Amino acid sequence: EPPKLVVPKSVIEPQEIDDGKKKITIFFGTQTGTAEGFAKALAEEAKARYEKATVKVIDLDDYAADDEEYEKKFAKETLAFFFSATYGDGEPTDNAARFYKWFVEGKERGDYFKNLQYGVFGLGNRQYEHFNRIAKVVDELLAELGGQRLAPLGLGDNDQCIEDDFAAWRDLVWPKLDKLLLDGDDATAATPYTAAVLEYRVVTYEKSNFDNDFYTNGHANGHVIVDSQHPCRANVAVRKELHTPASDRSCTHLEFDISGTGLVYETGDHVGVYCENLVETVEEAERLLNISPDTFFSIHTDKEDGTPLGGGSLPSPFPPCTLRTALTRYADLLSSPKKSALLALAACASDPNEADRLRYLVSPAGKEEYAQWIVASQRSLLEVMGEFHQPSLQLVFSLLLLLLAYNRDSTLSHHLLGWRHLESMSFVHWFTRRCQLDVHKGVCSTWMKNAIPLEESLSCSAAPIFVRQSNFKLPADNKVPIIMIGPGTGLAPFRGFLQERLALKKEGAGLGPAVLFFGCRNRQMDYIYQDELNTFLEAGALSELVVAFSREGPNKQYVQHKMTQKAADIWNMISQGGHVYVCGDAKGMARDVHRTLHTIAQDQGSLDSSNAESLVKNLQTTGRYLRDVW
Ligand code: 2AM
Repeated sequence: EPPKLVVPKSVIEPQEIDDGKKKITIFFGTQTGTAEGFAKALAEEAKARYEKATVKVIDLDDYAADDEEYEKKFAKETLAFFFSATYGDGEPTDNAARFYKWFVEGKERGDYFKNLQYGVFGLGNRQYEHFNRIAKVVDELLAELGGQRLAPLGLGDNDQCIEDDFAAWRDLVWPKLDKLLLDGDDATAATPYTAAVLEYRVVTYEKSNFDNDFYTNGHANGHVIVDSQHPCRANVAVRKELHTPASDRSCTHLEFDISGTGLVYETGDHVGVYCENLVETVEEAERLLNISPDTFFSIHTDKEDGTPLGGGSLPSPFPPCTLRTALTRYADLLSSPKKSALLALAACASDPNEADRLRYLVSPAGKEEYAQWIVASQRSLLEVMGEFHQPSLQLVFSLLLLLLAYNRDSTLSHHLLGWRHLESMSFVHWFTRRCQLDVHKGVCSTWMKNAIPLEESLSCSAAPIFVRQSNFKLPADNKVPIIMIGPGTGLAPFRGFLQERLALKKEGAGLGPAVLFFGCRNRQMDYIYQDELNTFLEAGALSELVVAFSREGPNKQYVQHKMTQKAADIWNMISQGGHVYVCGDAKGMARDVHRTLHTIAQDQGSLDSSNAESLVKNLQTTGRYLRDVW
């Protein structure tokens, strides 16, 4: 339940800056770009409504270099909005992690927010256990630290239509801002917001003078840096289908050759991959757009005189390139278009009837039709574009920008990897989290299924990749027992763990017991890596392999059912200081496994419910119960 709106005791006046304008700062913590898009949309409308305001959109990571700077800068903010996405297992996004740590840990110290009026909009998914956890914490804590809540916390639910949630929340924000930023009569005259197209300046060139290489590595003190902003190029070395032909689903195993890239990782880290659209997809888009694909262009967030425009202080979403490159690398042509993309299409449509139809789909009256025609039928942007005629050049650019164009880590939500830990490592292993044989395919699963590995051709596929650190690590002491729970593609990091244990074993290290709970549908279809798991077992890297087959017998068997059968062993290992790891689906599996752990503690440890709960909580806070879930 959203907290009640607290009526401010005394009204804080928004700070006036030099030119007499009032400053609104809009912060975002974004993983896939949605929070960033909403932050910008709010900024655009605020600029249109309030002549007296100066609006800034800021990436939480870019705001301050260290804790001290966060303190100094926040103390000066008087009017701010926070767009906070909750990610993974109730965690902040990568770009908000540093801010969040400072914010939560520093709560005793500061009153940096005593001059602040604020609003928070959260981005989450109600199917997850920690629905909008980060936004809830930010909203509550800001109030505790003396800030004044200007509008109630908005709880965006990505399981439904998060754009509608945002629109509803925004309608609560305007009356409050009108009071602060408009004088008397102006309040009613505020410009209603219509366009969702962000303002950018596009420059086209006849011929390219640039050669902007997305793959260029970053350097610092002579070391190569590889991160989401500086991915390195890696060839696909091996590609394998993991399911048997009997399966109606698909799961791809890919290996990248990372020799010479400078990429550094540890077992259990994640790999992010920027996938490209297939040539066929790009050609179809080019045909629909009817503009030379060799048109070279650059995008600017400032006016020619250097004053900021639209996106404000944010960098341009992608480097100068040709239209073909932009369509290949930056446009998510295969996902269903968001409402904001339809509005952008409408703004550029040459036929007024088509524009009306598009606007209707976005309007409250067209809600049901949008849900059916776009969402339920998984109609891709490309398909929607195919239904409308002769878009103008402007359209191309607007679309590119509104899509996953500058989506920093979109790939992370699609891939998980089990690293191989080898002395002379040259390969990375990973496979898709969701790779269904759908009629409507996602960019990444499509790319992976079609990737050409080096073992087949010298002109193999390559992609920009980078590593994201994770806290999913083996215990420092090899003798500590480990319990691994990873059905389906949740197996990925445990292959890495077991490969590492196998290597340790070969070096003569003494290993504690390790149990793996794996789950799949049917041993004839999707029992992936069966041979490799048996090798681990025979070599003693794995002490016990427990597999739950959900579609073999008359009843569903899931990993948690197997855990219940092995409750005494699990309790024993935990009592000996064991670590528990869960990887895979957060909505169903991880939640059910969590409940099962709780029940095991209750039954085996003869604990009442609240003691069992604090035991499990304690395992979590001491890093003995780790989850990598999505
Ligand atoms: P199902 O598809 O037959 O329902 C890997 O995806 C395995 O996880 C499959 O066998 C799948 O079973 C199973 N699975 C689905 N929901 C689950 C849940 N809530 N808990 C544990 N396993 C689940």
